[in-house]
Amino acid sequence: MNLRLGDTAPDFTQDSTEGKINFYEWAGDSWVVLFSHPKDFTPVCTTELGEVSRLKLQFQQRNVKVIGLSVDPLDDHRRWAEDIAETQGYALNFPLLADADRHVSDLYGMIHPNASDTTTVRSVFVIDPNKKVRLTITYPASTGRNFEELLRVIDSIQLTEQYKVATPVNWHQGEDVIIVPSVTDEEAKDRFPEGWTTVKPYLRVVHQPGSSVH
Ligand code: BEZ
Repeated sequence: MNLRLGDTAPDFTQDSTEGKINFYEWAGDSWVVLFSHPKDFTPVCTTELGEVSRLKLQFQQRNVKVIGLSVDPLDDHRRWAEDIAETQGYALNFPLLADADRHVSDLYGMIHPNASDTTTVRSVFVIDPNKKVRLTITYPASTGRNFEELLRVIDSIQLTEQYKVATPVNWHQGEDVIIVPSVTDEEAKDRFPEGWTTVKPYLRVVHQPGSSVH
């Protein structure tokens, strides 16, 4: 399955370190980060899962639930979780799907056979409360992901939802943003009463709405 932006994220039921999970029920009205790692007891994956555990509060503050996956069995997940806590300083605090039958991996296209036909690649899906896919990222097995960057993109997507602004290159929280082209100047007067700067008619820069940083 080749999932693309705007597609409906497939529902599934699978075993996890927190018991059997039905994805839609578990997700409820939250945003979701569903991500795969190649293999338990491997070094880069160990650092990644520790980091995601460290960032738990950051995800919660954005109404995001996180769920991991690999095709390893539950028993391996449980034993490996002890290593993560021991070596990374953060214990696993989100469910890890044990997708030994590859049900979810196949639904989400997480196995790329020309890279490896036995393990998942480093896939990330951000899924909104309507179960639409809003972001996909794929990294190779040898490169650990930057989960702070993932939070940055989630912030951008959620800002667009809330305020009809887009975020420019290398944007970070509190920096100026861009009024989306579909908002007319007339509408913008209501939405951004403090005004904006028109660099070009299609490039209108405004302070980040809702931010105390100016
Ligand atoms: C790792 O997590 O270190 C890793 C996993 C699979 C292939 C290469 C590296």
